[in-house]
Amino acid sequence: MIFLLAACASPPTGSDSGPVDTADTSANVDPCVDAPHLTWETFGQGFLTAQCQTCHASTAPDRHGAPDEVTFDTVEQAWLFADSILSSSTGGMPSMPPAGGVPEDDRQRLTWWLSCGTPGT
Ligand code: HEC
Repeated sequence: MIFLLAACASPPTGSDSGPVDTADTSANVDPCVDAPHLTWETFGQGFLTAQCQTCHASTAPDRHGAPDEVTFDTVEQAWLFADSILSSSTGGMPSMPPAGGVPEDDRQRLTWWLSCGTPGT
């Protein structure tokens, strides 16, 4: 799919033919193309619990300074903070979790869930 789009966008002369610059191309491709359908149950809850709730759970014994109101205890809260979660935890320079260490695959799934999934699920 990505190859076909790139091929269509190439100049007809073929002078630029060569390896497709996937980094550049993917920035222009809708992140939801071919995205698997993920939900709180199939991905979100497990991810947030493992990566974020040590500091963000309302019941966390030591929140390490995470803001009181930023909690991901429920699917409703996760979607309430969807934009902040995406901006802090996906993209080129994620700031959350502060220590990093989230596999790239999981950051991709997080994007698929909150950008492409059905809001509230
Ligand atoms: C080690 C503790 C810790 C972990 C783990 C952690 N956070 Fe945070 N988080 C903080 C602290 C401290 C702040 C407040 C300071 C700041 O904003 O940098 C914060 C702030 C935030 C904020 C509000 C400010 C902003 O940047 O938009 C969001 C949203 C957030 N975290 C999301 C997440 C997500 C999503 C994860 C998991 C992928 C996560 N955090 C993991 C400690 C943590």
